[in-house]
Amino acid sequence: MSTINILVTGGNGQLGSELRNIYNSGKASIKNTINMISTDIDTLDITNTIFLKKFFSDHAFDFVINCAAYTQVDKAEKESESAFLINASCVKGLIDAIKPYNTKFIHISTDYVFDGNNYKPYTEDDPTSPMSVYGKSKEEGEKIALSYVNSVVIRTSWLYSIFGNNFVKTIQRYSKEREELNVVFDQIGSPTYAHDLAQAIFHIINQSVNKNNFVPGIFHYSNEGVCSWYDFARTIALKSYSNCQINPIESKDFPTPTKRPFYSVLNKTKIKSTYNLTIPHWEDSLNEYFKQS
Ligand SMILES: NC(=O)c1ccc[n+]([C@@H]2O[C@H](COP(=O)([O-])OP(=O)(O)OC[C@H]3O[C@@H](n4cnc5c(N)ncnc54)[C@H](OP(=O)(O)O)[C@@H]3O)[C@@H](O)[C@H]2O)c1
Repeated sequence: MSTINILVTGGNGQLGSELRNIYNSGKASIKNTINMISTDIDTLDITNTIFLKKFFSDHAFDFVINCAAYTQVDKAEKESESAFLINASCVKGLIDAIKPYNTKFIHISTDYVFDGNNYKPYTEDDPTSPMSVYGKSKEEGEKIALSYVNSVVIRTSWLYSIFGNNFVKTIQRYSKEREELNVVFDQIGSPTYAHDLAQAIFHIINQSVNKNNFVPGIFHYSNEGVCSWYDFARTIALKSYSNCQINPIESKDFPTPTKRPFYSVLNKTKIKSTYNLTIPHWEDSLNEYFKQS
């Protein structure tokens, strides 16, 4: 069985770290031997297009998993150039560099490409209409990724991990420090444990290599189930054995520089049927997170 060469960009982020952690522990759901190289801005700055071309002419990869991104949603409103550079122009730079070698490209996008006005889970065919600079830059990145025939774009939502900073860690910390916490109850979505998404990516690679099943296009992935940020926070606090009281508040009482989608539940039927995937419920995955952290 041949060795599969994989490159991860943005490897020190939440998702990139989960991919590396699974790879290092030998638990990637791939039958073959894998050789995975994890890079980040210090080792492979994806803004450096000249270096990118040289890098890919020197190293052969079967798959590139692009986890590099500008992810600071509020800051992006004032730094749109940087957001569009990393989330869109750099996707073009990566694709231009890998195209000559037919390398398969797995790119990560977001529920923020939608405006959140739906009343039922978003499918991959629903029109996008981002409300924020971040969402617009990610939408542009998707379009560029999809212009390459060997691209899979995975939209995900509410990502958290034992690595990096995220909502789960913030609530864990605040619920220990404070007696009360106000959390919005009118934004509905699905959390995604980055470990599950990382395993799903390895599963897709395995399907591609061993079942000849690589289907390009957009796919939605989050954990199963639906909740509000309030429900999520309450569950996190309970699992942290905290007595902190979590109060439900409306988004209008918690203003942020960027409008968040009110409803961003993703329909995952396509990824489950195309890639024969089983997705855990968000509460089960949160339990797993607590076991790991
Ligand atoms: N986080 C969420 O809730 C969420 C929700 C939906 C979708 N997503 C998407 O999921 C993907 C992974 O998100 P994540 O939470 O793992 O992101 P993350 O933790 O912010 O990781 C992104 C990584 O990319 C690196 N990076 C930035 N500029 C780079 C450059 N020029 N060259 C190489 N690397 C660079 C970052 O380094 P620095 O830290 O030094 O900047 C960071 O290590 C992203 O595409 C994101 O848009 C995230």
